[in-house]
Amino acid sequence: MSELNVIVFVGSLRKASVNRQLAELAVESAPEGVALTVFDRLGELPFYNEDIDDEAAPEPVRALRAAAGAADAALVITPEYNGSIPGVLKNAIDWLSRPWGESALKDKPLAVVGAALGRYGGKWAHDETRKSFGLFGPRVIDDLELSVPAASLDGRHPRENAEVTAALRAAVEKLVANVG
Ligand SMILES: Cc1cc2nc3c(=O)[nH]c(=O)nc-3n(C[C@H](O)[C@H](O)[C@H](O)COP(=O)(O)O)c2cc1C
Repeated sequence: MSELNVIVFVGSLRKASVNRQLAELAVESAPEGVALTVFDRLGELPFYNEDIDDEAAPEPVRALRAAAGAADAALVITPEYNGSIPGVLKNAIDWLSRPWGESALKDKPLAVVGAALGRYGGKWAHDETRKSFGLFGPRVIDDLELSVPAASLDGRHPRENAEVTAALRAAVEKLVANVG
């Protein structure tokens, strides 16, 4: 069987991001036959603007859509900002939602996980991220939830936490089981 490609979006741009660390863990613990690749350019996307959304859309936008189009599934790993989706991720969602009806993620399974400082681990943001992606074509896996309270990691890389490592691995396995 050929390798399944999962595109990973991280909703935090900060270098020491816990969510970026979760993405590293997902990449390094990928199941056999699955390749996860972080799309690392969300910070380069201009704010969504219909006036520049055409064949000549800015290069980072075209790169985003091409990478999403080449993927079999998507994994979104995000913190919560002010009870909702971080702007950098919401902006990427808006670019990915167009052309309307022809999203590069159309019909592809998509899962949302992440960590945040609050005791619910960013659940509001995760719920809203699922809602938003679910509006334009990806097959959002609504019964896959993993919202990690960052305090539970004790300031260590998530790979040092066996429970989080197992839960993230199970999430990726469930995501790729939905491909096809
Ligand atoms: C602008 C801003 C808003 C935040 N709002 C929330 C929030 O609503 N809920 C929450 O649990 N944590 C919130 N936090 C704390 C983040 O969960 C915490 O900084 C987290 O580590 C960010 O993820 P990262 O480590 O991947 O960058 C906020 C942080 C920032 C910078």
